[in-house]
Amino acid sequence: MGVMSTALAAVDLDDMPHDFRLAMRNLAAGVSIVTTGEGRGRAGLTATSVNSLSIDPPCLLVCIGRASGTLAALQKNRSFGVSVLDAGQQAIAERFAGNGGQHGAARFNGFDWTTGVTGAPLAEGALSAFDCTLETLVEWHSHAIVVGRVRSVHTNEGAAPLTYWRGGYGSFDPQAG
Ligand SMILES: Cc1cc2nc3c(=O)[nH]c(=O)nc-3n(C[C@H](O)[C@H](O)[C@H](O)COP(=O)(O)O)c2cc1C
Repeated sequence: MGVMSTALAAVDLDDMPHDFRLAMRNLAAGVSIVTTGEGRGRAGLTATSVNSLSIDPPCLLVCIGRASGTLAALQKNRSFGVSVLDAGQQAIAERFAGNGGQHGAARFNGFDWTTGVTGAPLAEGALSAFDCTLETLVEWHSHAIVVGRVRSVHTNEGAAPLTYWRGGYGSFDPQAG
């Protein structure tokens, strides 16, 4: 891999996954949760890989590890919700990343939920929530690219988004313009 600038250190090709992860830590991202299912069948995970894909029709994508329990549930349900977390919702992000050791429906305890038209759970208080049906899923090496067709959208005022950078949570603070 070529060195693009004298200020950037080249990575060791023999340890690409490690170095790739390390370099990706510099990509600041908003934090969302991806949720699916009903009642005791609910599942969800924290994700930074959420992106807008197309506007007309509205579609989004999220990249999910193939070992994810949420991915399996989402494939079965054919629908999912994406809740874009507010800066005050770090506890939800940590829970849905599995940091408390909970899996599946147990991750939902103690937080407030609403149900989208597709039946997917959406987090109350999220800055935005997208209620999606599963349109396409493409397995790509370790992960799957999940494409959702957005069926309904919810937005909140909220003050600031929850962000993630270099392994830590933060919040976006716009520069005064
Ligand atoms: C800030 C943050 C962002 C994450 N983004 C993703 C992601 O985009 N895709 C993914 O598959 N896992 C991501 N993870 C890891 C999952 O949230 C975690 O592995 C989760 O426990 C998977 O749950 P599941 O196996 O029950 O689906 C992220 C974790 C954190 C803390």
